[in-house]
Parts: sequence; structure tokens; C-alpha cells
Amino acid sequence: KQPPSRKGSMHDLPQNLLQQIKDFEDVFTVDRQLLKKIVAHFVKELEKGLSVEGGNIPMNVTWVMGFPDGNEQGTFLALDMGGTNLRVCEITLTDKKGAFDITQSKYRMPEELKTGTAEELWEYIADCLQQFIESHHEEENLTKLPLGFTFSYPATQEYIDHGILQRWTKGFDIDGVEGQDVVPPLEAILQKRGLPIKVAALINDTTGTMIASAYTDPEMKIGCIFGTGVNAAYMENVGSVPKIAHLNLDPELPIAINCEYGAFDNERVQAFEKMTAGLYLGEIFRLALVDLVDNKPGLIFNGQDVSKLRKPYILDASFLAKIEEDPYENLSETYDLFVRELGIHPTEPELELSRRLAELIGTRAARLSACGVAAICTKKNIESCHVGADGSVFTKYPHFKARGAQALREILDWKPEEKDKVVIMAAEDGSGVGAALIAALTLKRVKAGNL
Ligand code: GLC
Repeated sequence: KQPPSRKGSMHDLPQNLLQQIKDFEDVFTVDRQLLKKIVAHFVKELEKGLSVEGGNIPMNVTWVMGFPDGNEQGTFLALDMGGTNLRVCEITLTDKKGAFDITQSKYRMPEELKTGTAEELWEYIADCLQQFIESHHEEENLTKLPLGFTFSYPATQEYIDHGILQRWTKGFDIDGVEGQDVVPPLEAILQKRGLPIKVAALINDTTGTMIASAYTDPEMKIGCIFGTGVNAAYMENVGSVPKIAHLNLDPELPIAINCEYGAFDNERVQAFEKMTAGLYLGEIFRLALVDLVDNKPGLIFNGQDVSKLRKPYILDASFLAKIEEDPYENLSETYDLFVRELGIHPTEPELELSRRLAELIGTRAARLSACGVAAICTKKNIESCHVGADGSVFTKYPHFKARGAQALREILDWKPEEKDKVVIMAAEDGSGVGAALIAALTLKRVKAGNL
């Protein structure tokens, strides 16, 4: 079922606003033909990323070598540094197949930290871990706990328990971390504080999502995040990854690839992510309105104070989500939102324009998001599978799932009577349970001498 659109309820608008809506539609609509073109290009870029020369999409080798079988056991810590929150979890994989217990605490990442110093970052992380350990563990039963560190940024890994940050994404800009291995400074501060923790694996949220989802559903082949950032991981064969051919590993071995495909179309710097991810949706909306205010004088917000609207990143994706969810014929909730967040009192036609703009931005994001999934399926010749998805846009943005599913149908040419073959569904907690599972799989491999 497709989400409702207010396209039909706009005939009363003044001609100039109707024309503006049409212009927005022209700019933001990604039709079936364009979707297919994007996917074809995307597949080539995925291939390039695996080659020795490399391309725009990093296609990072993660050293996660295979899926869990459901019999993994033990107690693990997971540290999840995602972009918005910092989370510490303790996960026990129980002797019941596919089952686990989890205890967790969430800490908000202070905004200043994202552009502060590396030392502040590690101190903050250590504070959170310390607080967690102190409130959940009695002093006497402390044994050294293996930690899965979910560090959801592009990292070059030569070993699973190391990772060199390629570049910050998602609005982070902490000096002195890019180009560095992030594990030694974390271990150093843990040691300094006497915390009994050993980093067993550094993982990406997408890899964690894929592994955690496959733990409970063997049809899961891809892990995706549609959140503050956008990305996916999938399982490749070593033999299909030319950039690690020199290691002479068994070509049949499975190996998880963290695509980092937010970088798709990177001539324009993380451009794919900027059109699809939660961090940017509100900003696109704001920029579109500011553009009208500046370049089409008299068209909207006449006599209104637009100074708040000029503030970069003042609107987040939840602003758009609320507009799209406004159930009222007169868009009264949208009106309240504009007043509350921006100090603007829009007219009814301006409300209609805003609603349509939100719809267009949300729809484009969902349809483009589907391109990444379709590209992986095409590259791997996957005809049908489950895709585990997580992230605030996937879980909270209205109609995102239906719009994405519709785009997949258009791209992958399923017949009208056919059921969806590639189904994007809610994942297990990848950054927590997934991290624990990857730590468990790693320790098992170390024990077996297979590293
Ligand atoms: C950004 C990060 C990537 C992460 C994604 C979702 O794209 O670079 O590592 O998976 O956001 O959190």
C-alpha cells in the first residue's frame, strides 16, 4: 500500500506556488528509469571498491569471516559509538540456540565532543565504560571482558581488532584521529583506568546488523543502516575481493564487506548519504526554503522573521517526519511546528508547499536508499533474501519502508502478482548483539588458530 499524497488537494493554491511545487517535483523525483541507471552505476562502483586500484566506495574488508551458527556462547561487552548516542552493553549469549540476554546504558554524545579533541573523546568513552562497569559489576568477580567496539565510521582494517579511521563522517571532525588506529588509544585509557576490558573486535554497525540478524534468521544476507548515516554490509567470497588477493587466502572463504556506500557519488563528498540519511533530511528542507526566500522574493513567508530558518542544521529529520505525519486537513500541526521551531507563521498555501516538499525529500531518500540494496543484490546475483535494517530513519520516518519497497519493485522488475523477493525488515540490535557475536566468532577463530 502506498502512502497518501496531498497532490490532489492542492488545486486551490495560487499559480506561483503551484508552479514552485512543480519545480520541486522536477528536482526531487527519481523515476524508475533513473533508479535503474543509478543502480547500474552503483554496481560498477561496488566492483571498483573491491579492486586493487579502488574507487569512491571504500568496500572495507572487515575480517568477519562467516555467519554465526547460533551456538555462540559467553559474556561480552559492546561499545557502540554510532553518531548520536554512546551505548554500553553487556551481552550474554546463552546456551539456548540464537538466544541472548542484554543489559545496557545509553549516554548522549555531547555535541561539542564531535568537534573537540581526541583526548576528550577517549576520556568520555572511558567515563561511560567505567560507569557501566561500576554499576553492573561487583569488584570481586571481575574477569577480563572481551569488548566488541562498534565504531561506525570508515576504517581500514588489517586485523579485526584494529582499524585506521579513513575519514570522519556524520558531522564528526575530531583532530588527530583520521589516519590513526583507533584501538591503541582506547586500550591505553582503559588500562590507565584499570578497567578489565580487552578489545576483541572493531566493527561497523552494518556488519553487526547483518551478523545479529543472521543469528536469528538465516535468510538475512545484507545488513543496512538508514539512520544518521546510510550504509550496508554483505558477505563476499575472498576470491571476489582482488584487493586482498596477495594474502593468498582460500578463495571460497566468506568475508564481510562494509561498503561505506554513503560515499557513493563522492565527487560531491559523501553525496549519497547527504540525500538519504537522517542527519541531512531536515537540512535539505531548510536549504530549499531559504533558496526561495532569497531567490524568489515575495513567494513565501512575506513579512516574517526568517532569521531562525537561516541557521544551518536547525531542523532535524523529525521535523520532516512530523510534517509528513500531520493528520489534519488544515495542517495545523505543521503550522504549530513552524511557529515553535522557526518562529514563522505560514499561510495555508505555504503549509501545503511545505508538506509537499517534505514528501518529496522523504520519498527521494527512501527511493535512493533502495538503490544501494538493489545494487548489492544485483552484484551478488541474489534473487531473494531478507535485509536486516536499523537506524532512526528506517524505524521512525513515516512511509520510508513502503516507499523503499516500492522502489525495489520498480528496480528489480517483479511482476505485479509477485510477492516482494528482497524484503527489508527490522534487524536485531547489530551494534550490541552483533558486536558481541562478532567478538565471540573472533575468539572462537583465535582459539582454533584460524586467524
Ligand atoms: C556513516 C558511516 C558508516 C556507518 C553509517 C551508518 O556512513 O561512515 O560507517 O555505517 O554512517 O551509521
